[in-house]
Amino acid sequence: MSETKQPRFSPQDITVVFLLGGPGSGKGTQSNNLVRDYAFTHLSAGDLLRAEQVREGSQYGDLIRSYIKEGKIVPMEITVALLSNAMAEALANKPKTGKDGKARFLIDGFPRKLDQAVFFEQTVCPSEMTLFLNCPEEVMEKRLLKRGETSGRDDDNAESIRKRFRVFVETSMPVVTAFEEQHKVVSVEATGGVDEVYQRIKEGVAHKGLLPVDN
Ligand code: ADP
Ligand code: C5P
Ligand code: MG
Repeated sequence: MSETKQPRFSPQDITVVFLLGGPGSGKGTQSNNLVRDYAFTHLSAGDLLRAEQVREGSQYGDLIRSYIKEGKIVPMEITVALLSNAMAEALANKPKTGKDGKARFLIDGFPRKLDQAVFFEQTVCPSEMTLFLNCPEEVMEKRLLKRGETSGRDDDNAESIRKRFRVFVETSMPVVTAFEEQHKVVSVEATGGVDEVYQRIKEGVAHKGLLPVDN
């Protein structure tokens, strides 16, 4: 008999929404809107990795730095552990909830690879929905080069951007396709202004029953 291990958190207690889209599609920007109106706790996998990269005493600093520069996907055990621990820490601080009383997590930039998706859902928590920001590469490239003027990020340069686009198409899009097959994806056109995109997001997630909370 195979051993069955329960995920760390149950979908009866928390709602997990994945936020995917190519680099520069606007995930971080729209997360701010979603946190404000939907009581999400926002966790960006990239932000958690960048924090771990510079954390004193981390054994993964150099590894993470080189993966990010090359736009490659960091081994999933590292990223999933960072997310799982950040979720536990957030829950210990009694976060806001939806009307259903469940804490809501918006997991930005994750899962970027099929193995991450499977491992996270088996060991941390099954997801409710994936919000996908669909954006042409020309638009994302323009945004990222502009962001690179001030972001200080090692990967906001033309060469890293090219590599990240490739990894996105080859490795991350199959995750979106897999969730689409489960009818769990809300796909939104991410061109146009920030407010315009957010309007589409609100309409899209409402169709799946996700509503703002009263402030
Ligand atoms: P991601 O987290 O998906 O990589 P960001 O939210 O960081 O993307 O956005 C990338 C850059 O584009 C940022 O500098 C941001 O201010 C800008 N940006 C985001 N959304 C839009 C938009 N709809 N129109 C123009 N610029 C945008
Ligand atoms: O999402 P963001 O653009 O901040 O991610 C930056 C980089 O972090 C990615 O290009 C990748 O190298 C790494 N990353 C990862 N796995 C994730 C999210 C980010 O390896 N799930
Ligand atoms: Mg981001």
